[in-house]
Amino acid sequence: MTKDMDQIISLCKRRGFIFPSSEIYGGFAAVYDYGQLGVELANNIKRAWWKSMVQKRDDIVGLDSSIFMHPKIWEASGHVGGFSDPLTECKSCHTRSRVDHLLEEVDVFADEKMSEEEINELFSANMKKIHCPKCGNSDFSEVKSFNLLVKSNLGNFTGDWTKEPVYLRGETCQGIYVNFENVLDSSRKKLPFGIAQIGKAFRNEITARQFIFRTREFEQMEMQYFTSPDKEMEEYEKLRQVRWQYYIDLGIKEENLQWHKHENLVFYAKEAYDIEYRFPFGFKELEGVHARGNYDLTQHSKFSGQELTYTDPTTNEKFIPHIVESSVGVGRTMLAVLTDAYHEEEAPTAEEGETDKRVVLKLPFSLAPFKIAVLPLSKKEPLTDISRKIATTLRDDWMVQYDETQSIGKRYRRQDEIGTPFCVTIDFDTPEDNKVTVRHRDSMKQERVSIEDLGGYIREQK
Ligand code: GAP
Repeated sequence: MTKDMDQIISLCKRRGFIFPSSEIYGGFAAVYDYGQLGVELANNIKRAWWKSMVQKRDDIVGLDSSIFMHPKIWEASGHVGGFSDPLTECKSCHTRSRVDHLLEEVDVFADEKMSEEEINELFSANMKKIHCPKCGNSDFSEVKSFNLLVKSNLGNFTGDWTKEPVYLRGETCQGIYVNFENVLDSSRKKLPFGIAQIGKAFRNEITARQFIFRTREFEQMEMQYFTSPDKEMEEYEKLRQVRWQYYIDLGIKEENLQWHKHENLVFYAKEAYDIEYRFPFGFKELEGVHARGNYDLTQHSKFSGQELTYTDPTTNEKFIPHIVESSVGVGRTMLAVLTDAYHEEEAPTAEEGETDKRVVLKLPFSLAPFKIAVLPLSKKEPLTDISRKIATTLRDDWMVQYDETQSIGKRYRRQDEIGTPFCVTIDFDTPEDNKVTVRHRDSMKQERVSIEDLGGYIREQK
């Protein structure tokens, strides 16, 4: 089934996964808010990542570094000088677009290493074939580089902050690099070891496209693995395998994933691959897995004047550690997870008062915002009283939704749409036999289970 982006966006809004930011003020481009279900899904994604990258690893520790950092860090990292996208403006409607994206539309691919002049030439040569995504015109302004770092005026109360700006971090990994020595000294880790972090990053993305795929404020989950130079590629291969398996374990269908090898590497990189996911708009980058050499610590050493080296305790050899990195966005993972889970299907059996078509999010148990819905067949005692008690008990372990409104068929459909794996129905026999009906989301199979065994039953099935 081809997944339609509009259907996913509509479900996200309708059910409270994702809202446009500042909507009552007309919205705020390329920024989104997670609603009551989105925050649960995002937390579950972050939990799964943390479990895989930190909890289950003896060789990786966590970190939570600040969003504001010394501005020199962004000079050392190359972001002040080179973190930019080529931009053009439509001469007719003044819409700004990324030149590499416009070129892609006509199957021309700009090389990441191209200078502004070279991109300008390539763009001019192809301009007649290219159309403005808004008005269709084919006349554009000259290409200009546009820096993606977001400036702030933090702490600079008197001076001109546009000249001496502080930046909101453009990626979380710089906080890891600058804490390398702190973690090394305080954790007594030996190479190879990694530092993992989840946190917000900010970028002045030029084009607001594709929902939460590319936003101006987003969360990254990054792990930087420090290794000796001779082990870099070996560790890189291991990391590639770990990251592929992570998505399979997360429940993503393997046929919707592929590797993309970067052909034009930045000068310091040894190798770079992206894991791409089949989004509704085609295969696109989900995460980057890169072998970065010793560039990052070398740069921070140079700009800070601090030695950032490691001495091998057995050989006494001193060197600047090399880094292999894994970097992925929470929102981008969420879009992949939602796309993978979204299904429209004919329900094999018609349930009370419903058509045979249903939308169902087949989310794995670990990611589903609510694990169980508790549904009394009537709004009256004693069914509501029993139901509320069941919900309270289950809430000790899981996120549980209690719902007593509308027909049971409508309530099942509502839970299908938000991916709740189990519905527990309390009916008129329950006060007599102390049993409830458990309905499974994907198979729609129903089983009678005693209230006493309910927790154990759910634990066994999930
Ligand atoms: N430290 C490396 C780094 O930041 P990147 O390719 O710029 O590399 C890594 O970003 C990941 O972060 C991407 O694969 C994507 O999942 C996520 N990401 C990057 N920019 C994003 C944006 N504007 N909106 C949402 N996610 C983004």
